[in-house]
Amino acid sequence: MRHLSLVFALASLLFACSGTSSTGGSDLENRVDELIEQMTLEEKVAQMAGDGEGFFLGDETAWNVPGVERLGIPPFRMADGPRGVTTVEGATTFPVGVARGATWDPEVEHRIGAAMGRELRSFGGNVLLAPTINNLRHPRWGRAQETYGEDVHHLSRMGVEFVRGVQEYVLANPKHYAANSIEDTRFGVDVTVDERTLREVYLPHFRAAVLEGGAASVMSAYNSVNGQFCGENEQLLKQILKTEWGFDGFVLSDWIFGTQSTLGSALNGLDIEMPVASVYGDKLLAAVNQGDVPESVIDDAVRRMVRKKFQHNLDQPSNIDESVLGSEEHLALAREAAAKGSVLLKNEPGALPMDVSAIERIAVVGLLADTANTGDNGTSNTQPAFVVTVLQGIQEAVGAAVTVDHIGNDVLSAEDIAIVAAADAVVVVVGLTAEDEGEGLFGAGDRADLALSVERAKLVQDAATANDRTVVVLEAGSAITMGDWLPDIEALLMAWYPGQMGGHAVADLLFGDANPSGKLPVTFPTGLDQLPPFDNESLEVTYDYFHGYRYLDRNDSTPEFPFGFGLSYTTFSIDGLRASQIEAKAGDVVLFSVDVTNTGSVAGAEVVQLYVTYPGSAVERSERDLKGFAKVMLEPGAMQTVEIAVPVNDLAYYDVGEGAWALEGLEHAVHAGTSSRDLPLSTTLTVAAERPVSVY
Ligand code: BGC
Repeated sequence: MRHLSLVFALASLLFACSGTSSTGGSDLENRVDELIEQMTLEEKVAQMAGDGEGFFLGDETAWNVPGVERLGIPPFRMADGPRGVTTVEGATTFPVGVARGATWDPEVEHRIGAAMGRELRSFGGNVLLAPTINNLRHPRWGRAQETYGEDVHHLSRMGVEFVRGVQEYVLANPKHYAANSIEDTRFGVDVTVDERTLREVYLPHFRAAVLEGGAASVMSAYNSVNGQFCGENEQLLKQILKTEWGFDGFVLSDWIFGTQSTLGSALNGLDIEMPVASVYGDKLLAAVNQGDVPESVIDDAVRRMVRKKFQHNLDQPSNIDESVLGSEEHLALAREAAAKGSVLLKNEPGALPMDVSAIERIAVVGLLADTANTGDNGTSNTQPAFVVTVLQGIQEAVGAAVTVDHIGNDVLSAEDIAIVAAADAVVVVVGLTAEDEGEGLFGAGDRADLALSVERAKLVQDAATANDRTVVVLEAGSAITMGDWLPDIEALLMAWYPGQMGGHAVADLLFGDANPSGKLPVTFPTGLDQLPPFDNESLEVTYDYFHGYRYLDRNDSTPEFPFGFGLSYTTFSIDGLRASQIEAKAGDVVLFSVDVTNTGSVAGAEVVQLYVTYPGSAVERSERDLKGFAKVMLEPGAMQTVEIAVPVNDLAYYDVGEGAWALEGLEHAVHAGTSSRDLPLSTTLTVAAERPVSVY
């Protein structure tokens, strides 16, 4: 590795001396063209597939895609990353994506992206196979935990900042493009999705990651969309991504089952086959030699990769050493994100935060209380040096003065119940694990249900019956439906899979060292009957326009906990919604402002959410769509004016007949509040009709 970096460094020095610079756009393009001219066809084709190195998970390396050593073009070295860099021991394990989505804090997500980028670069990696930005279309989806949530705008904001953070060090790889939201049939399922739904619901966050985030690469999905596999989908890859959006980076396939045919992939825009050549390699070489694939297609693919290698200085030696892996700074960030992403769903007066000085005995109950539960066993699985469990976090937080009784079973004996009854406070940790949900093939796949297991539900009920000071901490990758136990517990904290510092973060929240500020990025329904169908058996499914809160709003169903909901230990007032203009036209950016005041007695953060409705629209629209949000931290008594910018073109819908985005001439209603179902403030924005408009 070290020897190779030296060769690359020398080669780039030679290049610099010959007067070619990698900074300017056209200089860069000229340099790339010159290099391509010097490559043999074999060298070019070799860059279009992984060489299989690093194929086995747990190998302390990364998947390798060859460069051209003699020309100073470095290889790609890839590792997974939605919750931390996967292939090396000791890398930081952050809370899973959905937990970070629940922070509603793109700035934190930027720092997490940068931390993962630094860690990957420290051992020679240069492409992070993240973020996962597929829609959390249904909470039974096994990989729901990897993505940020169910809403397109929220997914975009979080994904863009993660990409920007990562790309301070290495290349990011938003995945899986597109409509990949089922595990059990992921290799073969064909998703039928109408044009408008595709454009408005399944693609905008990829467009944002590419155009706003500047993502250098994209991973195609396993499934097919409207009859064409995503790894050779002409519309998705060639027409939309590369032509309409003008993406100048490269597309790589998902692993092994992500490619189907040589010509289909090459001619429709797949640049790299991973992790080894199956339809590319010799078959691609033969196809070019026979004239079935023009060499210009190969040149285009190679140009895209080499451009990104130089644009992002992958040819330069890294000055980051492996001390960043699991560093104090990164662990502190993991703890911060876990605290900011945990969502307080219920809190009876006086329940949380707990006053340690008033507690002599605390019972910590449940198998998961002392289980390292960081997420599924799929390709996003990490190898942290340690995991702080909730039990450990509580023990450390309360110190020696408080007796902590740990009951590590999910079934309580008579003796256990007596211990629970005698405690001053009870924390029950329940939820799901990698045995219940995860990536297909490597793990549990899609969830069978949304409820807790019968055993765990009974555990909560038994604890709450024995002691009315019972608090529940939930761990899972998406929504859980509540049971009869909900009214009987005092408080409920959704911690998701909170990462290796999760136990500390949960203790910080339980004892008031941190104030909950997370908000649900996914609706918690009362039951499956409130959601669209989820079919993980058939190989043909249809994705409709509505899912998540937009589906419930349309059906007038009342969820258990709505999208955007989360409590705090303080209270806020939000007043005075106003807009920088009341009439707007295409291209305008309207600033909406509200005054947020912390009316309680502790510091805390609130997320102001802005939803738009379309009264009188000529097409079927959502009851309301999230179009902006901002998180604000306030000391007690403090007030701040929060501004949320909404580009008017974001209100457009996709007019299938015209094949273009269109703004309707409407008086839009704009609502602000603190969840999708708590929107006390309203104003209007009259928009002039215009079509086509650009949403790029
Ligand atoms: C997953 C991808 C992952 C790749 C490499 C595939 O099975 O779907 O998300 O990046 O493997 O680990």
